[in-house]
Amino acid sequence: MEIVILPSAAEVGVLAARKIARVVRDKPDAVLGLATGSSPLAIYAALAEQTRDGSLDVSRVSAFALDEYVGIPAEHPESYAAVIAREVTGPLHLDPAGVQVPDGRAVDLEAAGERYEEAIRAAGGVDLQILGIGANGHVGFNEPTSSFASRTRIKTLTERTRSDNARFFDSADDVPTHCLTQGLGTIMDARELLLVAQGPAKAAAVAAAVEGPVTSMCPASILQHHRRATIMVDEDAAARLTLGDYYRWTYAHKPSWQQF
Ligand code: GLP
Repeated sequence: MEIVILPSAAEVGVLAARKIARVVRDKPDAVLGLATGSSPLAIYAALAEQTRDGSLDVSRVSAFALDEYVGIPAEHPESYAAVIAREVTGPLHLDPAGVQVPDGRAVDLEAAGERYEEAIRAAGGVDLQILGIGANGHVGFNEPTSSFASRTRIKTLTERTRSDNARFFDSADDVPTHCLTQGLGTIMDARELLLVAQGPAKAAAVAAAVEGPVTSMCPASILQHHRRATIMVDEDAAARLTLGDYYRWTYAHKPSWQQF
């Protein structure tokens, strides 16, 4: 894994967007994996800025979101379909037909999960998957003890995740209890992974994911088994990394041909 520690959350957004923009320039019809939550918002804002000023063309890009709540209508402002439309599809002027979100309203959720897997396969797989990380180490909505082999399926949210996400809803009771999420196996199939984290609340999860044992108790630790995983964090989220100085030194001495 490549660990990049940056002075501020804003710089995480800018550098992550630069890396994604490079993927799209190399492959104009790239398939991006999108994450929701606060962590990637600065990335989407930076990419939208680049599409506005004409330095980035995303007209042929397609995308798959990681997850969706079960039990709230698509029109709900906090459904991930609505969030992706508001934060990504609209600002980047992506073709809505090319942006998919798991169908959390399906009557048959198992079939909806299988359809989603099939759609990702049919698109040729995800070139770069953006990830945030939950305070308990979840990626997507793969809560602790999720199988490393899991595919898109229903999951029950932990109380921790529900309370963390309560800020987006009128009351804690309004936070859905279930979701449809890409599995860890699905995520690991992406050709490249880019996980971003900012703030002190993520420091323990980042340390466990990067330097802890690979264990389903910290689902993000499976990234240690990916060939191309980059972790970009601000100083607060990096605070509990044992080898922080090594990562900073490595990034400062990155060969020019390897720059983002
Ligand atoms: C959410 C999402 C994840 C996200 C994580 C962290 O519930 N399902 O994809 O990475 O939890 O969220 P945030 O970035 O808001 O801290």
